[in-house]
Amino acid sequence: MDKILTIDGPSASGKGSLTRAIAIALNFKVLDSGLLYRAYAYFYEKGVTTDHISKKIQGLSFRFNSGDVQVFDDVKEITSLLRSENTAKAASALSSQKETRKNLLDIQRSFYNGNGLVADGRDMGTVVFPNARLKIFLTASSEVRAKRRHIELQNRGQEVNMRDLIEDIEERDLRDRTRTLSPLIPAEDSIVIDSSSLSLDEVLSFTKKLAKKEFDK
Ligand code: DC
Repeated sequence: MDKILTIDGPSASGKGSLTRAIAIALNFKVLDSGLLYRAYAYFYEKGVTTDHISKKIQGLSFRFNSGDVQVFDDVKEITSLLRSENTAKAASALSSQKETRKNLLDIQRSFYNGNGLVADGRDMGTVVFPNARLKIFLTASSEVRAKRRHIELQNRGQEVNMRDLIEDIEERDLRDRTRTLSPLIPAEDSIVIDSSSLSLDEVLSFTKKLAKKEFDK
């Protein structure tokens, strides 16, 4: 079994915050796979052909700064472009294509070098790292997730209407759950946590207990 903690779940379920906090606590590396799908969409929208996108993504630099990931394309920081709702939509559409998932598979696996890794995504426990030692599936109601996303976007200076946000989230969920390839479903051996009425601290302390049991053996 690999020294990996996978955290899968729908968008805005709190996966990102949990991933960063638990990675710091365990001193593990982070793979934010959604960011790779977003980078794929970013290059695709810029007109880069799909057989060149992997190379472009491998050329990006991912910097971890006080728990957050910053992405640079050469000297240009593209983090906020990747985090925008437009890129999220394009990434969601592209992520249902076989070619996209195949192109990103090895790039995602290359983040694991034998030392601890926290991998955040939709299919980390089912497809990318089936041998991960601990698998979590984090979920929350669409209203709670829309509220969290609203606050997150406001903090980034982006104003989005709540009703549009709920609609977008539900539409994206449906697409992610019903796609044929790597649908968003909990791995059989995962622990499902519904965070609708839990704070990040509560989810974090529960995850820490599970991780301690699993990784301190
Ligand atoms: O987690 P996120 O919102 O940054 O992900 C952006 C899109 O990428 C999302 O719509 C689904 C897709 N994605 C995926 O299909 N598989 C992953 N492992 C991660 C993200």
